[in-house]
Amino acid sequence: MKEKAKIAVFASGSGSNFAALETASRTGELDAEIVLVLTDKPASFVVERARQTDIRVVGLEPKAFSTKQAYEEAVLDILREEGVEWIALAGYMRLIGPTLLAAYPSRIVNIHPSLLPSFPGKDAIGQAIAHGVKLTGVTVHLVDEGMDTGPILAQVAVPVVEGDEKLTAQAIHAVEHVIYKETLQRLILTNGGVHS
Ligand code: GRF
Repeated sequence: MKEKAKIAVFASGSGSNFAALETASRTGELDAEIVLVLTDKPASFVVERARQTDIRVVGLEPKAFSTKQAYEEAVLDILREEGVEWIALAGYMRLIGPTLLAAYPSRIVNIHPSLLPSFPGKDAIGQAIAHGVKLTGVTVHLVDEGMDTGPILAQVAVPVVEGDEKLTAQAIHAVEHVIYKETLQRLILTNGGVHS
C-alpha cells in the first residue's frame, strides 16, 4: 500500500486550523499524515493542542539562531528526519526564506483570511472591516518569497458581519477549517509521489 503523504504544519497561534487538519487526517478526509507541528512560538496554544495528539511537536525560536538561514537549516534537518513532503502554514507568522523554499518548491501552502491580493499581511480581518468591504473571504495559496503572494489554489468569499470583527472572524475560521483540508487533499492527489 502506498504510504500516506507526510505533512508538517507550521503554526504560531491558537492552532484551530491545525486541529481541523489533524481531525481530517484521522477521519480520512485528508489522505495524509501530519508528522510534525513546528512552532516559532513555543508558548502558543497550538502546542497544547498538538500535545493532545501523538504528533511530534517542535518549538524552535528564531532568536536562538544567528541568521534566518541557520534557523531554516535547523528546521530543514527536522523536516528531513520526519520525511516531510508538504508544509502547511497555519497561522505561522513568519516569511519563509530561500532555504526552505528551495527545499520544498511548490510544496509549501498557506491559508490567509482574506480574498488575496486584498489585505495581505497581519490582521487581514481587521483590515477588511476598516476598509468597509462587504465581502471578504479565505485564500489558500502556494507560498513564494513574498508576503501572502504565490499562486492561488482556492478562494471562498465570506460576507462581513457589519461592524462585528468577532463574528466575521468566526465565519472566516469556519470556512478555513473546510477549505484547507479540501485544498490540501486535492493538491496531494494531483501531485502525488514522494518528494525528493
Ligand atoms: C487563520 O486565520 C489563518 O488564515 C491565518 O492565521 C490564522 C490562524 O488561526 N494565517 P489558527 O491559529 O489556525 O486558529
